[in-house]
Amino acid sequence: MRYGRDSMAPRVHPYLDAARLPEPSAPGERVDVRTLVGPPGARIEIEVGPGRGGFAFERLASAPEVALVGLEIRLKWAKIVDDRLRAQGLGGRARVFAGDARAALATLGPDASVSAVFVHFPDPWWKKRHHKRLVMSPELLDEVARLLARGGELYVQTDVEERALAYVEQVIAHPAFEPHGDEPGDAHMADNPYGARSPREHRSIADGLPVSRLRFRRRA
Ligand SMILES: C[S@@+](CC[C@H](N)C(=O)[O-])C[C@H]1O[C@@H](n2cnc3c(N)ncnc32)[C@H](O)[C@@H]1O
Repeated sequence: MRYGRDSMAPRVHPYLDAARLPEPSAPGERVDVRTLVGPPGARIEIEVGPGRGGFAFERLASAPEVALVGLEIRLKWAKIVDDRLRAQGLGGRARVFAGDARAALATLGPDASVSAVFVHFPDPWWKKRHHKRLVMSPELLDEVARLLARGGELYVQTDVEERALAYVEQVIAHPAFEPHGDEPGDAHMADNPYGARSPREHRSIADGLPVSRLRFRRRA
């Protein structure tokens, strides 16, 4: 246990009580994502790495049929955004849980229960030794493929063009996904079709940075 410099009181991480996904009821079981947010029959969407969380609020406002689960590795943002959702009376429709999305998605089910997965501006890791941190990974794509319903959407955006090219290559190499952009056979979209933007997306637009917007569809 660590102690503060001027006191013998233990130093506690201020966001340690960020919400975590519940444990499955038995080994080998998964947590039913429809029990986390609702109402029953809602269109379930997942946001990987929501950060400061603006997308969730805008998405809930633009699409009344949507319920959203955010998975955020930083305790601070998971806690702050989840608390804000509840403070605004939106905690029944959207939650943000702290955790590594790559592992967290594997604990969720049932298969084919999710309508869309968003990955906005992931992976600010440029050094080779940090590549193990990349959230856009084969493990993540396998779990997204399992959770998405037939025709479900994986939407990824970035303002780093070479990353966009790598994401396209990576996702279309996966047998479960096909490009689903503006033109047949291409993943690129001229604009974000979800009526909601992430904080980083707002910033990129304000800074005049071109954003690559990529949409893929879960094959039948
Ligand atoms: C560059 S920020 C973008 C934040 C937000 N999506 C946006 O567009 O404004 C990347 C976010 O992904 C989160 N993140 C990175 N790796 C993650 C992982 N393995 N699981 C969940 N979140 C992750 C970071 O903590 C950060 O909040």
